[in-house]
Amino acid sequence: MNLIEVKENVFHLHNGLISYILSVENGGLLAHLYFGKYVNQYHGERHYPRMDRSHSGNLPGATDRLFSKDTLLQEYSGNNTGDNRLPACVIRTANGARTVDFRYVGYQIINGKPNISGLPHAYVENDQEAQTLVVTMRDATIDAKLVLYYTIYRDRPVITRHVELKNESSSSFSIEKIASMQMDLPKQNLDVISLPGSYARERQIERQPLRRGLTQFESQRGSSSHHMNPFVALVAPNTNEFDGEALGVMLVYSGNHQMSLESDQVHQTRLMAGISDYNFDWQLAEGATFAAPEVLMTYTDHGLNGMSQAFHSLLRERVATSKHKLTDRPIVINNWEATYFDFNTAKLKQIIDSAASCNIEMFVLDDGWFGHRDNDKTSLGDWFVNTKKLPGGLEEVADYTHDKGMQFGLWFEPECISEDSDLYRQHPDYVLGVPNRGRTISRDEYVLDFSRPEVVDNIYQQMTKILDHVSVDYIKWDFNRNLTEVFSNTVTPEHEGETTHRYVLGLYSLMEKLTKRYPDILFEGCSGGGGRFDAGIMYYMPQSWPSDNNDPIERLKIQYGTSLAYPISAITAHVGTSPDELLGRYTSMDMRGAVAASGTLGYELDTSKLAKEDTDKIREQVSFYKQHRHLIQYGNFYRLESPFESNHVAWMFVSPDQNEVLLFNFVVLSQIQNDFHLTKLIGLDANKQYTDTESQMQFGGDELMNVGLYDQPIQSSDFSADIRYFIVKNK
Ligand code: DGJ
Repeated sequence: MNLIEVKENVFHLHNGLISYILSVENGGLLAHLYFGKYVNQYHGERHYPRMDRSHSGNLPGATDRLFSKDTLLQEYSGNNTGDNRLPACVIRTANGARTVDFRYVGYQIINGKPNISGLPHAYVENDQEAQTLVVTMRDATIDAKLVLYYTIYRDRPVITRHVELKNESSSSFSIEKIASMQMDLPKQNLDVISLPGSYARERQIERQPLRRGLTQFESQRGSSSHHMNPFVALVAPNTNEFDGEALGVMLVYSGNHQMSLESDQVHQTRLMAGISDYNFDWQLAEGATFAAPEVLMTYTDHGLNGMSQAFHSLLRERVATSKHKLTDRPIVINNWEATYFDFNTAKLKQIIDSAASCNIEMFVLDDGWFGHRDNDKTSLGDWFVNTKKLPGGLEEVADYTHDKGMQFGLWFEPECISEDSDLYRQHPDYVLGVPNRGRTISRDEYVLDFSRPEVVDNIYQQMTKILDHVSVDYIKWDFNRNLTEVFSNTVTPEHEGETTHRYVLGLYSLMEKLTKRYPDILFEGCSGGGGRFDAGIMYYMPQSWPSDNNDPIERLKIQYGTSLAYPISAITAHVGTSPDELLGRYTSMDMRGAVAASGTLGYELDTSKLAKEDTDKIREQVSFYKQHRHLIQYGNFYRLESPFESNHVAWMFVSPDQNEVLLFNFVVLSQIQNDFHLTKLIGLDANKQYTDTESQMQFGGDELMNVGLYDQPIQSSDFSADIRYFIVKNK
């Protein structure tokens, strides 16, 4: 089937699940017509209504007062040329003008999906999987060519978009803003859902009705941030988890981002996503092209869960590039909260011994193994082993771990530098900062100027020296602060506005080189917890640390919120200590285990110091997880009850063949004389018979989905969990 039809300047991208329709309007403006459920019979005769609206001007030279850019539903707007809403692109030309007006030139349809050089992006494995509409527009005064890319996948409710801007004039100009996509939606009531947060409280779901004016979700921290994830969903007011329309938008980018929604004078909504225009000013030389990051868009009328599932499978299968993207992830023990900086080889061996006896599969040596790093004030940038702590080098620890039948993982923070480091002493100019101005210090560290290839290369050389000699199976890539005083010491002033984006490009180049050179290594992203949990990182690293907060009650929210956009295989979750290191809350091993086993399971405590009953529990959890991890990491995930709304939380996993079901129920605070709680399952085969493997009770699929199940008695204490496993016996 052809995925893109073109009829009289109307472009219809469709795949049986969704339709996306745009057209060329008067004067060559590109109009948005529709994004939603698949339309089989589209005749293309409906046009945007005409009306003379006072104070909304007409195109230059026009005699028709009924047609204005100011209200037209568009695909990509210019600036300061009659559309008074938010511009998608602002270009400053040599004469100081900031006027932009793109008009349609032509189109092309290509099979498959082109790559975006230097940037992470969704991809296809063969050209039959997708088709791409390439629309060319031009601002004839500036002599700039804008190319809009729209890819539709054959089997996914997904459209991807990005733009490229080429300077075809004979002098350079400045790009002050360049959105990756815009889409203007007709009047309708909409709620917007975002994922704001903070350190240790990442991706908390917020939902608000959209009102007139501008609503913006943004990060200006040089990284995608704990504080606002590069994701929004636009939903109908009645949309819930399983019903209703949801349009999801996600930026494949790890730096400053901006998602904007503007409700205009006639209640139409402009939606825009891309790099933030904060501190952004890109000099585009004559003949040069700027590629903006990609946006992934999903549409479903199966509620938030339908949206999440579309993102989950796309990110897992066609954004992540690692060879581990679909493999069962190892159960990790990480020494960070067990030892912090205070360890030596003997202490690590004790942890490895005890973890091995619990059948844990990988030991990760976290922060503190390099330079003379005994605290967080020193040695970042000096990626050579601390032989005072580890006299036998990393090799001794790695070999010891491997001899125990476990894999070995290692922590790096490649982008940062301590003032007390050889690297800083040799190259103080490698740091981002403005001469004669104090530098903001954060966790006692500075950020390396990754916009400079020689700085990136220095770190690359140091890392490869380690990785070529030590047998490392996994890397945790941390980043413990945000960018400030963004200024590069080697560029001319007119290029300073490029530094933040060039930093991200430098970061991606390092990730690209390392992941290509060491394809067997499993990389995990991290940024002081979950400060850079985004699709850009996922392209290189199939999993990320979502939060330093291991308290299971807080984790219910963090993992629930993260799952709105990101797949379970990507969400690592560790059992920590009780009382919790950050919150001081006491919780049972069962509760901590159940929450951590709802993601990619690991441990963040000193197993050598635990009582026997706790290590016995860990052995049970590990064996449970090994049995079920494929279902958990790659099954269909359904959120049933939200920790943001209820004291009772539930979620479940269903295998693609619908023969296996894992149901997790959690109670936060126990209640006296509690109501009987009924959970209705979802996503099962109505006609199959499911057996509860513990009680051996039988249930019909339709029974579980419509009649539901009463909780087992799990209310006896605060913070309790219950897991039930159902299988279809006679398939
Ligand atoms: C922040 C991470 O989130 C932690 O897990 C740990 O790796 C520390 N950094 C180490 O400095």
